Amino acid sequence: MEKLYFGSATDNPELTDAQYCTLLSNTKEFGQITPGNSMKWDATEGTRNTFTFAKDEAILALAERNGQKVRGHTLVWHSQLPISNGGFDNATLISIMENHITEVVKKWKGRILHWDVLNEIFNEDGTWRSSVFYNTIGEAFPGIAFRAARAADPSAKLYINDYNIDGTGAKSTAMYNLVKKLLAEGVPVDGIGVQAHLIVGNVPSTMQNNWARFASLGVDIAITELGIRMTFPADAAGLSQQADDYKNVATACINVPRCIGISRFHPYKYSWIPAIFPGQGAALPWDEDMVVKPAYAAIAGALT
Ligand code: G3I
Repeated sequence: MEKLYFGSATDNPELTDAQYCTLLSNTKEFGQITPGNSMKWDATEGTRNTFTFAKDEAILALAERNGQKVRGHTLVWHSQLPISNGGFDNATLISIMENHITEVVKKWKGRILHWDVLNEIFNEDGTWRSSVFYNTIGEAFPGIAFRAARAADPSAKLYINDYNIDGTGAKSTAMYNLVKKLLAEGVPVDGIGVQAHLIVGNVPSTMQNNWARFASLGVDIAITELGIRMTFPADAAGLSQQADDYKNVATACINVPRCIGISRFHPYKYSWIPAIFPGQGAALPWDEDMVVKPAYAAIAGALT
């Protein structure tokens, strides 16, 4: 069993911010790093079968200098995907997908703790999301993707990652059922990544049960992109509720032995949230000046 880590995503433009890098490199705060964009398909294979790895290398270098683990994010995703318009037959797309996975995973072989092999493949009601992969290859694409990743780096743990699978519901049940089916078919799935893009005051009370249900399949659980956002401005009541919410997430993970790590997504002023949810943010245990908020002490309390 892996030891519980706490980590963060980061992105290349942020690496020029010295104050930020100092905190990001503090291994008492962050034992793990996720490249926020630089390992995605558009960054690594912007042009078909031409691979570029300089951006990932920069983030790996920082993490390895600090002795931090790295989660690879992500191999097969409908977004940031230059081939999303499709036009391929089944065999061609399988070969494109296998080639992408093989080249990227092989490149970083032995240096990546987890790969998010699949990202966000479900709709909210638990049906398959429309994507070039599902629409062309059908329900076989997950198994093909996991097998290619395992062949390229047998030491990396392989994950399927999604949002809104934090508590019980149709989408989490779809995840549970798919992973159960894949494992029964001998597909090498090692873990379920729970993104945990949560909202202050609205954190599901069923998280622990849901994660225990996932773990009962015999896989690990990683909280991969945790943030608990609120509507600006962040007032005292919101910060206090957020502290309780963070405590509940940390406690649920601690109480599920196979929950092996918690990563937040893009701390401080580099949060992705205001661009996608205008008027919202303040989702992390640090504020924009990197000063700890009440949530920080709440997490620390949960850990002791
Ligand atoms: O690289 C271009 C740059 O050349 C250009 O000047 C700039 C202008 O806007 O855009 C840059 O690309 C941006 C890219 O991030 C890199 O910074 C895209 O516009 C922007 O849309 C993209 O956003 C990322 C988003 O995924 C895309 O879907 C966020 O940074 C990243 O945090 C976010 O992460 C996702 C996870 O991968 C999966 N789960 C949800 C999460 C949040 O959406």
